[in-house]
Amino acid sequence: MTWRASVLTLFPEMFPGPLGYSLAGRALREGRWALEAADIRGFATDRHRSVDDTPFGGGAGMVMRPDVVDAAVADAVNRNPGAPVIYLTPRGRLLDQGLVRQLSAGPGCVLLCGRYEGVDQRVIEARGMLEVSAGDIVLSGGETAALLLLDACVRLLPGVMGAGASAEEESHGPEGLLEYPHYTRPAEWQGRQVPEVLLSGHHAEVARWRRAQAEEATRTRRPDLWARHQARNNQPHDRGETGRLDGHPAAA
Ligand code: ADE
Repeated sequence: MTWRASVLTLFPEMFPGPLGYSLAGRALREGRWALEAADIRGFATDRHRSVDDTPFGGGAGMVMRPDVVDAAVADAVNRNPGAPVIYLTPRGRLLDQGLVRQLSAGPGCVLLCGRYEGVDQRVIEARGMLEVSAGDIVLSGGETAALLLLDACVRLLPGVMGAGASAEEESHGPEGLLEYPHYTRPAEWQGRQVPEVLLSGHHAEVARWRRAQAEEATRTRRPDLWARHQARNNQPHDRGETGRLDGHPAAA
């Protein structure tokens, strides 16, 4: 079955955007995944086709109405049954490669992109949406976060990356390490040499050097990932992914 992404947005023309190019674009044309971007405004019911209103309690900005958003979600869920409904928001759990792997292994996803101050909390709760953030940054809307999430998921779909590519050794792979650095010709460039071991032809030594580089990069750049990697390697039991999309421990 085709992995299906249903995006709900006020700016459907933003899609596929960058996902129409390179690996994701080719896979989309080959039918390895499907994308539909629906205009939330199409579900407005009043004369002015309004999708937002002022916040109860006062304050700046506008809030997207629960009735309009719910109608848009209902339509998307109908066309994409079984797919988790995700609301992109800086209040959500951080997107990481573990969640990306889980999503890409599923049937697809429904992605709700907010604008303005966001979406009325009641529809988020009523629909049991998973709230996901693209990082500890504030974007002008959920669309760029949705593009980022889709890019990460689609490249993991069968046949998208092609033979030779490996999701094992890259950063944030199953080992939880950043990737080692890469070099190509020329062997000397602006007085800088490629590390000698990479020219040696000793596969075992190259592998050892890459492993050491990956560990050093992770330790110095991402002490958070390094601590988790070490804890996992020193644990007799698997403390890895829980299998739950929200990242909470699985029920006993
Ligand atoms: N919308 C605005 N900021 C966002 C973020 N960091 N992640 C997801 N959606 C957003």
